[in-house]
Amino acid sequence: MVRTNNISFSYTEYEKTGELPVSEKELVDAAREIAITAYAPYSKFRVGAAVRLESGMIICGANVENAAFPSGICAERSALSNSISNHPDDKPVAIAVAAMNERGLTDDFPSPCGSRRQVIAEEESRTGTKIKIILSGQDKTLVIEGISCLLPLQFNRENLKVNLP
Ligand code: THU
Repeated sequence: MVRTNNISFSYTEYEKTGELPVSEKELVDAAREIAITAYAPYSKFRVGAAVRLESGMIICGANVENAAFPSGICAERSALSNSISNHPDDKPVAIAVAAMNERGLTDDFPSPCGSRRQVIAEEESRTGTKIKIILSGQDKTLVIEGISCLLPLQFNRENLKVNLP
C-alpha cells in the first residue's frame, strides 16, 4: 500500500514581546540580556539563549566564537550544556532565543539551524519532556510547542535502540 502523509504544526505568534505570558517574557528578557555578553568578533552576530528548568530556574548561554570557526559554540548549546552539566535532573521545559547584530536586536526572530534543532531534540529525548521553543525578534515572537515541530521524523536514541541513562 502506498500512502501520502502530511505533517503540520501550529505555533503561536505574538506581534509584540510585551504580549507574551509573564514567564515567557521573562525568559526572552534573559536571552536578550545574555546575548550582550556573547563573544562574536567574527560574525558580529550575538545570540543569547535562556533555558527554563522545571524548578523555575533560568540558565543562560551565549555564542562563543573561535578563530578556527568550527570550534565556536552556539548560544543554544552553551545554555543547554550548562543546564545539563549543572542541573542534570532538573528538566528543561522551555528555551528562548534572541539575537543581536551590530544595530541591536534583530527584527527577525532567530530560527535555529539543523544542528541546534538536533541538540534540543537530544535533550527532549534524554528527559522525555517537551521543550517549548520561543524565538524572539525585536517585536515578533514565535512560541513553538516542541522540537518535533521544527525537526519532524527526527533521528534520536530510539533509532539506535539503546537505553542510556
Ligand atoms: N548562532 C547561534 O548561536 N545560534 C543560532 O541559532 C544561530 C547562529 C551563532 C553561531 C555563530 O557564532 C553566529 O551566530 C553566526 O552564525
